[in-house]
Amino acid sequence: MVDYRFVVRFCNFLALILMIVIAYLFHIEKQTLFVSISLPKGLSRSQKPQEEPVNNLTYPAFRHPLAPPYPYPYKFLINQPDKCKHRRPFLILLVIGKIHDWEARQTIRETWGNESNYDVDVLRIFLVGITNFIQDRTQWMIEEESVAFGDIIQQDFMDTYYNLTLKTLMGMEWVTKFCNNASYVVKIDNDMFLNVECLIYKLLRPDLPLRVNYFTGHIVSSTGPFRSQAYKWYVPREVYPNDTYPPYCSGPGYVFSADLAKKIYNVSQRIRVIPMEDCFMGICLYELHIPLTPSPWGLFFGRYLKYDRCKFHKLITVHHYKNYRLRSIWPDFWNLKSTGCN
Ligand SMILES: *[C@@H]1O[C@H](CO)[C@@H](O)[C@H](O)[C@H]1NC(C)=O
Ligand SMILES: *[C@@H]1O[C@H](CO)[C@@H](O)[C@H](O)[C@H]1NC(C)=O
Ligand SMILES: *[C@@H]1O[C@H](CO)[C@@H](O)[C@H](O)[C@H]1NC(C)=O
Ligand SMILES: *[C@@H]1O[C@H](CO)[C@@H](O)[C@H](O)[C@H]1NC(C)=O
Ligand SMILES: *[C@@H]1O[C@H](CO)[C@@H](O)[C@H](O)[C@H]1NC(C)=O
Ligand SMILES: *[C@@H]1O[C@H](CO)[C@@H](O)[C@H](O)[C@H]1NC(C)=O
Repeated sequence: MVDYRFVVRFCNFLALILMIVIAYLFHIEKQTLFVSISLPKGLSRSQKPQEEPVNNLTYPAFRHPLAPPYPYPYKFLINQPDKCKHRRPFLILLVIGKIHDWEARQTIRETWGNESNYDVDVLRIFLVGITNFIQDRTQWMIEEESVAFGDIIQQDFMDTYYNLTLKTLMGMEWVTKFCNNASYVVKIDNDMFLNVECLIYKLLRPDLPLRVNYFTGHIVSSTGPFRSQAYKWYVPREVYPNDTYPPYCSGPGYVFSADLAKKIYNVSQRIRVIPMEDCFMGICLYELHIPLTPSPWGLFFGRYLKYDRCKFHKLITVHHYKNYRLRSIWPDFWNLKSTGCN
């Protein structure tokens, strides 16, 4: 008697063995045949293709998702091309904030950003990107706001934290292309107190000859990228391989001579762009071999400071003054600015 169940099992077993053997042969064949044909002579299979040196900051072919896409021909969706046609601003205020933050923009227009407050020509411009839904109400509102105030520029990149560098570079591009006869520029966040008069008369001084290659602010040195994803400032090795940043000026408020806008915009076209915009400015200056210029200590205050009229009179920036808090101190600061201080 033949046990059919045994025959069936035996055949299955044979088939399995056969499949394994074929798969193995195919694998071997692929490795030896195909690879040895495609590899140049002298290269053994264990050798990997040559990798890029890790310190090559040239824009790589592969882009990490956290690296801002650049250079890329971003378009101006909203522009103010004629703003500098008939003027030579002494100071441009490049104000950085989220597209939704119309309240902060309006507060700034009514406080330190009011151009008619000052004796020298000050030009205010807000920099924004786009939201997820270009056709949504935010876009419609920002266009209306731009028509009303003529002080907004926008390019078609996503308005996100990791894209902040693109926003700064948009400012550099705008100064280069549409306002290159300005003297100085301050890049300032929309949650800052800014003492424009102190900046103009104590630091920049219209009576002095125009400086070139001048970049100043709260200088930060001997720092490096955060490699843990737990930080807001996380920068993976693929995005920036070096362990240290060159010295840079802290992001919320820094000042530079307008000639640098063009140089920074130019150098940024050929080096790898990283997300931390202030560190990236440091890298651009490092590549340009232009050192930072130190300012008297305490003028650029990187943290919050409780309002005090006389103290605020003598410094340029203070962090964390926005909307209500800025409005609440402004009348006292502005109207009584020269009262009771020496
Ligand atoms: C860096 O990489 C680019 C291509 O990604 C290459 O053209 C360039 O020569 C490299 N530079 C150095 C210094 O290796
Ligand atoms: C300033 O520069 C712009 C071009 O960037 C030019 O059109 C304008 O005439 C210049 N203004 C003055 C006063 O030189
Ligand atoms: C700016 O200041 C001028 C007076 O210096 C004032 O007339 C004007 O209303 C102010 N603008 C805003 C937006 O507050
Ligand atoms: C930055 O903007 C570009 C262009 O809009 C977008 O493709 C990219 O996802 C944005 N990156 C981040 C990290 O938001
Ligand atoms: C990064 O490190 C390399 C190698 O040490 C060095 O040549 C290069 O200048 C550094 N780049 C920056 C921006 O510090
Ligand atoms: C950058 O400057 C160099 C010369 O300094 C010039 O040849 C080049 O065209 C400029 N590139 C851009 C994008 O302006």
